[in-house]
Amino acid sequence: MKLIIDCDPGVDDAIALLLALASPELEIVGISNVAGNVSLERIQKNTRQICELAGHPDAKVYPGCARPLLRPLATAEEVHGASGLGGVTLPEPTMAVQPTHGVDFLIDTLMNSAGDITLATLGPLTNVAIALIKEPRLVGKIPHIVLMGGSIGQGNITPSAEFNIYVDPHAAHVVFSSGIPLTMIGLNATHTVMSTPDRIDRIRANDNAASLAAADLLTFYGKDERDHLKLPGAPLHDPCVIAYLIQPDLFEVHPYHVEIEITSSSSMGRTIVSKAEGSDVDNGTHPANANVVLRADAAGFYDLLTQRLATL
Ligand code: RIB
Ligand code: CA
Repeated sequence: MKLIIDCDPGVDDAIALLLALASPELEIVGISNVAGNVSLERIQKNTRQICELAGHPDAKVYPGCARPLLRPLATAEEVHGASGLGGVTLPEPTMAVQPTHGVDFLIDTLMNSAGDITLATLGPLTNVAIALIKEPRLVGKIPHIVLMGGSIGQGNITPSAEFNIYVDPHAAHVVFSSGIPLTMIGLNATHTVMSTPDRIDRIRANDNAASLAAADLLTFYGKDERDHLKLPGAPLHDPCVIAYLIQPDLFEVHPYHVEIEITSSSSMGRTIVSKAEGSDVDNGTHPANANVVLRADAAGFYDLLTQRLATL
């Protein structure tokens, strides 16, 4: 499967990239960066550090948009650390970033691709929205977007909104109303794969550099959940996107209609998920525009993640 990953590393993005780079089923055509967890400058450095940690200095990294369409950039250093890769100190990257802007990379690559290229998005949807606005014909050239974002219920950055959608709700509106086949992996799913201490220890036991770094990243990432919220660990959001592409049967999916709240100040960025007309859930009033992942097989997910990290 040919794949483009649009991401904002960020700890969980980093784990997702390691999983993707360790998976022979995936041919990573390129990685585009978008501002989100931290600034774009840190994100494109973090992305290159992770690619080199995975033994892939050949990966192509394209810096994209440094801010959302309309709103000021909101970041999450409190979750990911000031660098965006809290818990580790990786060598300065030696590989270069690509000279092409991430948006132009998406347009040029997808418009000129002979075969299908799947798009995985792990951060705010700014790059994808601008690509769709700049080149509307992209709608017919993207067979599937698998995105981490949204929630059927509670948010994580506000009571209503999940971070990726909240940072750029207008971009999310462009993508969710585009008609492109979407799989939405939201908080409902990612909260069924908590990075608990025993799961982190299992990854650490691989004892290779990538797994040791992943374990340190996840230990840092879940500190707030374990110490203050008395949760067993942090939900492991972004790697769910990659695991879904590799082993979709680990996930339960339902077709729903998803609309993005872009007017209310109190619930800006909420994904309003309603039962879809004619789907196998209760009668709805809108046609389905997304397959929404509800839950994951946590044991199978961590088996896959742990096994793949061991190969790096
Ligand atoms: O809400 C979780 C999402 O926001 C993840 O993608 C995380 O990396 C942040 O981007
Ligand atoms: Ca992310």
